[in-house]
Amino acid sequence: MKIGVIMGGISSERQVSLQTGQEMINHLDRSRYEIVPIVIEQRADLIEQVQQAGIDLALLALHGQYGEDGTVQGALETLGIPYTGSGVLASSLCMNKQLSKMLLKAAGVHTPEGFYWQGEYEPQAVEQLGYPVIVKPNMGGSSIGIQLVHNEKELLPAVQEARRLDQAILIERYLKGTEITCSILDGEVLPIIGIRSAHSEWFDYKAKYENGGAEEKVIQLPPVTLQRVREAALASYRLLQCKVYARVDMILCQDVPYVLEVNTLPGMTANSLLPKSAAAAGITFTQLLDRIITSSLR
Ligand code: DAL
Ligand code: MG
Repeated sequence: MKIGVIMGGISSERQVSLQTGQEMINHLDRSRYEIVPIVIEQRADLIEQVQQAGIDLALLALHGQYGEDGTVQGALETLGIPYTGSGVLASSLCMNKQLSKMLLKAAGVHTPEGFYWQGEYEPQAVEQLGYPVIVKPNMGGSSIGIQLVHNEKELLPAVQEARRLDQAILIERYLKGTEITCSILDGEVLPIIGIRSAHSEWFDYKAKYENGGAEEKVIQLPPVTLQRVREAALASYRLLQCKVYARVDMILCQDVPYVLEVNTLPGMTANSLLPKSAAAAGITFTQLLDRIITSSLR
């Protein structure tokens, strides 16, 4: 089977995507697959490159906009080329933090309180929520453009920074708790990983991708809490119509899991969490890729 590993792209997560793609290429079973790396430099490249490559399946190593957000999935659907992971709707919903939070909330899944800003800058609204808050571009990834804001003085620069990535921003109450992540493969929850960032108050870009940036290990939770975490992860995955695999990021605060977001194309770099979680379940990176491919073709 000829597999095109699609990576790069033009989102702010391009570098992470290139690492994900390389890691996938390093671990794909060469006795089973013929591998074609496809590096996207510009949006318009995708269709031509994919068509020229003559692949049987697109293994998506893209992250962020024009990759993880349903646009590439839509193009591949139109071309009739199978691809890995979630479909168009789940991909675009999960990329939009505000819309996914609204749906999760309506379904009774906890998510940090906050609000969405597209227009005027209104510091009074943040006062009501109470500092500290987290300011995020509504559609982003890898924590790029996200900042922890302790007071009004820090707010405007954070808003400006987030707006460089997306005009729409999300402001959430900062919950002090344990950051955890729940990887799901084929509707099955893999071991849950707890994160302790080494140098920051939250899991920022450096903590995510620098060696030694964070301590990430399988977390032992009391049975009731574990059940809540698993239920919140699966409810989010199903509600947002994810398929094949995803990673649900949460904060565990006083034994209650608050869902931050669902990643439909979670990072698969050497430092990423989904492969770690799979390894803890006895699934090697090569087997993980086999499972993703098989399940995507079903
Ligand atoms: N957006 C990055 C790649 C992740 O969620 O792992
Ligand atoms: Mg993300």
